Amino acid sequence: MENSPPATATDFDVTADWHVAAPYEFLRRLRHERPVFRSEHLGAYVLTRHEDVRAAYGDAKRFSSEGSLTISRSLADETRKVLGDQGSFLSSFVANVDPPTHTRLRRSVSRAFTPRAVTAMEELFRRLNEDILDRVAPRGEADFVTELGHVPSAKLSARFIGVPEEDEEFVKEHVKDWFMLFLSPQPPDRQLVLARSFLTYLDYVDKLVAARAAEPRDDFTSLMTGLIGTELSHREVVELISTILLGGNDTVPNQLGNSVLRLLRENAWPLPPELLRNAVEECMRIDGSSLGSFRYALDDVDLPGGEGEPVTIPRGSLVLLSTDSAAHDETVFPGPETFDLGRPNSDAHMTFGYGIHFCVGAALARLQLRTALEVLGERLPGLRLVPGQTIAYRRSIVGRGLPSLFVEW
Ligand code: HEM
Repeated sequence: MENSPPATATDFDVTADWHVAAPYEFLRRLRHERPVFRSEHLGAYVLTRHEDVRAAYGDAKRFSSEGSLTISRSLADETRKVLGDQGSFLSSFVANVDPPTHTRLRRSVSRAFTPRAVTAMEELFRRLNEDILDRVAPRGEADFVTELGHVPSAKLSARFIGVPEEDEEFVKEHVKDWFMLFLSPQPPDRQLVLARSFLTYLDYVDKLVAARAAEPRDDFTSLMTGLIGTELSHREVVELISTILLGGNDTVPNQLGNSVLRLLRENAWPLPPELLRNAVEECMRIDGSSLGSFRYALDDVDLPGGEGEPVTIPRGSLVLLSTDSAAHDETVFPGPETFDLGRPNSDAHMTFGYGIHFCVGAALARLQLRTALEVLGERLPGLRLVPGQTIAYRRSIVGRGLPSLFVEW
């Protein structure tokens, strides 16, 4: 793995390992010298200071989310043809729209994420973690990512959404393809395979939504289909369900894998129970599974540049709010590259975003991260990394996750 960018790096490079694995020296230079950086490679302005990132998230009037999720990909013409109408998929997903549409969608989604509903999932999630450990623990070794970390979150979100158990594997495979199609640079041949897989998945979700609309059950899909015709359209529900399944299948397991790697490398295992809560936050700060969010500038926006000279982001520009950089901003987190379980403000990271689009699943994600680490610590206090393995993150524009992590105990 290339551990850091060459000192001469002048732009991001999503095809290089350092973009996800170790961008911090480059980001530090940007924060100090060019905090409003025009990246030719990303085709976007990049905000890197905590203060600027937070202000932009908080200013939805000037930084629009409309279309922000559908840009972070470079699809070949052939792929676009295969996707057809679905190429603009996500056009009405809650994270991809502005008020007043956002306000309406967010209200509907939030109904399912009340504190009580989230707490009610803890017991099920703990059991799912214990089940998987019952099966794998006697072996003494495993790939943490694929065999331990992923399964309970994927199962929890499938149950929450109402995906029948026999379809869980199908969903898992297709969701992975979708994620890769939209968020990782892929060669054209591979794009086509992934695009077809995505269409199959969409068709599946469409049928699931229709089935629950006809015959509601006690699940999130039924809760949302109950709002069709009053608050939501069929299409909006399909986009919501397919994307939330994606959230459950990828973001939490990615964060968990990053966290376990960090804790083992720092010899912080097993975690004392009183440090669990802060450990989750410090891991999210230092190795966030989300690197940032895109926005479009709705106006010319003036921001202070490196020497205090204003820089104008022209209206219509794409802007990346780099939460990865903000989480390593030394003015907010002294000694940002040091993993510090006693850091008083670890949770000031913006790995869940900030403002009106703040992650609606944040409480559920935190609950999963805490529970998974707690059960793992109880059951496998002697967990350690298998020595000699190559550890490399998946290439991605705005996500950080490991394809595998070999552990033993
Ligand atoms: C560690 C895990 C997770 C991370 C790092 C994460 C990260 C994020 C971020 C950065 C945003 C803001 C996007 C923006 O402003 O453009 C967001 C929004 C969102 N997240 Fe998460 N997320 C996680 C888990 C989840 C889970 C488990 C769910 C659902 C079960 C979920 C559902 C959503 C939804 C629906 C939105 C859109 C909210 C809105 O636009 O109002 N996320 N997430």
